[in-house]
Amino acid sequence: MRLSKVRTLRLLKMKAQGKKIVMLTAYDYFTARLLDEAGIDIILVGDSVGMVQLGFGDTLHVTLDMMIHHCAAVRRGVKSALLVGDMPFMTYKINEDETLKNAARLVQEGGCEAVKIEGGEEVVHFAARIVGAGIPVMGHIGLTPQSVHQLGGYRVQGKGAGDVEKLINDAHALEDAGVFAIVIEAVPPDVARRITQAVHIPTIGIGAGPHCDGQVLVINDLLGLTDGKPPHFVKQYADLGSAARRAIEAFANEVRSGAFPAKEHWYSD
Ligand code: KIV
Repeated sequence: MRLSKVRTLRLLKMKAQGKKIVMLTAYDYFTARLLDEAGIDIILVGDSVGMVQLGFGDTLHVTLDMMIHHCAAVRRGVKSALLVGDMPFMTYKINEDETLKNAARLVQEGGCEAVKIEGGEEVVHFAARIVGAGIPVMGHIGLTPQSVHQLGGYRVQGKGAGDVEKLINDAHALEDAGVFAIVIEAVPPDVARRITQAVHIPTIGIGAGPHCDGQVLVINDLLGLTDGKPPHFVKQYADLGSAARRAIEAFANEVRSGAFPAKEHWYSD
């Protein structure tokens, strides 16, 4: 169990000391409590909420109001971890004033301590504006799911000629803008290693191999609460989906047979 609050400075120190950073997503109060009590360093209310909790086919349907609703629930379950909220699609790329207002809503109404935005050099002026207003920003490069249509699907990035240089330039530009950490998604391990070595701020990998300063997974993937097979980079640590299905079927069978409720489940007269 953790004793003290995680802040962005702690994460910088962890990189310098070679200590791995642990990050997971959460979308509700109860899961947030489990993660916080387990000593997870960073809890991300990802816009993956759209896919794993709300049933959308991508993250593009997630609105700021939806994010605030989930962030506020997670906030109530978190004491120690750093709480980061995703800025959803088009809430930060239109103009800087709107970007700042939207980031501020995630902090004021959602209780986030930092926000995450996707993209490299093309978003650094938005990142700098948010950081300049006193809100910590996490970057996200490589596979950026909000650009899924432009990227041609959820596919590994950083494999083409010039891609690695671009990713390293993106990471430098984000660091210069004041970003405190960068998620690197779906790139080959050697590319993630080069990016990680190129910047002083921590990198958190997902499908990016072992060389990042930390690792993040979507909590539903880790717990086996997904439709179908998760991506191959996921390690599923539990199969709660099957356990839940068995419990629900047992309840239905017992109601139908009259086995539930039994005497111990009702109030005496
Ligand atoms: O939305 C999300 O869950 C994310 C993580 C995969 C990093 O951005």
